[in-house]
Amino acid sequence: MALTNLQVRDLETVLHPYTNQATIRDTGTLVLERAKGIYVYDVDGKPYIEGMSGLWCTALGYGNEELAQTAYEQMKKLSFTHLFGGKSHDPAIELAEKLKEKAPVPISKVFFVCSGSEANDSQVKMVWYMNNALGRPQKKKIISRIKGYHGVTIASASLTGLPANHTDFDLPISGILHTSCPHHYRFAHEGETEEEFATRCAQDLEDMILREGPETVAAFIAEPVMGAGGVIVPPAGYFEKIMAVCQRYDVYMIADEVICGFGRLGEWFGSSALGYKPHSISVAKALTSAYMPVGAVMIPEEMYQATIIESKKIGTFGHGFTYSGHPVGAAVALKTLEIYERDRIIEKSAAKTPQFQAHLKALADHPLVGEARGMGLVGALEMVAHKPTKKAFEPKAGIGAYATMVAQEEGLIIRNLGDSLAVCPPLIITPEEIDDLFDRLARTLDRTLDKVKAEGLLGA
Ligand SMILES: Cc1ncc(COP(=O)(O)O)c(C=O)c1O
Repeated sequence: MALTNLQVRDLETVLHPYTNQATIRDTGTLVLERAKGIYVYDVDGKPYIEGMSGLWCTALGYGNEELAQTAYEQMKKLSFTHLFGGKSHDPAIELAEKLKEKAPVPISKVFFVCSGSEANDSQVKMVWYMNNALGRPQKKKIISRIKGYHGVTIASASLTGLPANHTDFDLPISGILHTSCPHHYRFAHEGETEEEFATRCAQDLEDMILREGPETVAAFIAEPVMGAGGVIVPPAGYFEKIMAVCQRYDVYMIADEVICGFGRLGEWFGSSALGYKPHSISVAKALTSAYMPVGAVMIPEEMYQATIIESKKIGTFGHGFTYSGHPVGAAVALKTLEIYERDRIIEKSAAKTPQFQAHLKALADHPLVGEARGMGLVGALEMVAHKPTKKAFEPKAGIGAYATMVAQEEGLIIRNLGDSLAVCPPLIITPEEIDDLFDRLARTLDRTLDKVKAEGLLGA
């Protein structure tokens, strides 16, 4: 298919993040122009259900007048001031108060950033800083998990447990370790129950801490439900067992709530939905429903006290971004949280969970689907070549990418994480729209199955 003028100009100028730079030269990009509700429209006016909330972030959907108005008003009133060296402003103060009020664990202060990667990079730096302040400079290693996703800056990409984020980027940096991934379907032994598998994952963590020396291990970071690693819901009892290990060795626990925060799993925070209590929390994405790039690190009192100790020693807390607590972003985040509360968005999205999950689980019967998994309003279908043996397709067959393209033709935007198809619609999706989304997804699977059969890849 010939590329349009916009597509050609795009390829000549834009280096696209997370994109196969070779194949995109043939396929071109999907150029979007406008959006409303759960729909985005391309330059030809074709509508698509945004089944991924952009990148797991547009919880309130598109075209929200209140958020647009809030940004406009704040831009007119005070378009910018920073929080460095004793400056502050009303929206940042109110937003920090609101986040503290909503937090599932006692939070002392809120440090503002512009993205999930910045939040997790800040977590790493602050853990190192805290342990220096506390006089234990050897306690610095941080453990994350294989298939965890925490961002792409140098420290956060190191925390991420996916090969594409490390290979030839010379990552991970030293002192960052990856323990086992709690994906029962892929990593449980033959006949191992979820409970036994969860016990083994916790044992793996304990073994790693003991091998490294508990006096050298500072923190453990985890998403409540893994997102970009494939939408992996941990087995029952997993976090309870992990938390016990962290407590035993005085390991600081960080919840990366960048996807799960603000209702994705049916509660304000995913860690509460999964029953664990972290020391600190990273948030971003749905904090503003992606109307502005805002994130935050919510820290406990012991971390705050460390910044005072170090400030007395060094003269300042030497960390912060120009746009930390940007007033327009803060105002939009505050309005977003107000809408979540006022319109009971999180309670209402939780009520839609059974319908969403039932649709998802029904697709487990499809000949291509090895596992249908999910929680709240997020899920994934893992496509396999042979269901009984869980045999995966060869990555070079590109089945996941093919299905994503077919879904696009069906007017549905999804994301393939390898051969797992992720869905994560805006929380405002209606029951009728959920039915429509899954109709399109089922057609996508059928058409993908046709190709797989035609190429003799099924059961191979
Ligand atoms: C759990 C999690 N943490 C961190 C990040 C990184 O966020 P950003 O892309 O805003 O840097 C993401 C992004 O998808 C994420 O899903």
